[in-house]
Amino acid sequence: MGKGDLLVRKIHTGTVIDHIPAGRALVVLKLLGITGREGLRVALVMNVESKKMGKKDIVKVEDKLLTQEETDKIALVAPNATINIIKDYEVVEKRRVSPPNTLEGLISCPNPTCITRKRGEPVSTRFVMINRKPLTYQCMYCATIISEEDILKQFMHKHG
Ligand code: CTP
Ligand code: ZN
Repeated sequence: MGKGDLLVRKIHTGTVIDHIPAGRALVVLKLLGITGREGLRVALVMNVESKKMGKKDIVKVEDKLLTQEETDKIALVAPNATINIIKDYEVVEKRRVSPPNTLEGLISCPNPTCITRKRGEPVSTRFVMINRKPLTYQCMYCATIISEEDILKQFMHKHG
């Protein structure tokens, strides 16, 4: 039993996102589109001790079983996160996250002349993964390259 368990009890059904880098739990929630207004019971545990990571965050969402597609976005801000699917208090599935091949409407293009940044005619952004390590994406409209760090900065700035 980890020390985080002392703060928040085990859940009956839902998803536990574990091994999130310390301080990024709120960004993970935002990426999942969870606002609190859905009425789901959500627990955030932040800056708890972890054997593997020093400190970590944990997000528990009750009564929601997240899909692979939903959780893969988490890899952008928490590459080593573990997704635990809980049923009847048991971990019935443990998955790793893997960054999506394409990002649609998730991040903005840093190129000020990119068509996705034109006023009045909104074109949703579209980035394609061109390298996994180091993680690198490319804008499909203007070919601008964006690094893992650029993406993280955008999320921390927008949602942190
Ligand atoms: N958990 C929970 N409710 C449950 C079962 C587990 O909230 N009914 C949480 C645990 O507190 C832990 C995570 O889900 O944060 C994963 O549980 P478990 O696999 O039992 O823990 P570990 O073995 O420590 O996980 P790992 O090997 O991934 O570090
Ligand atoms: Zn662009």
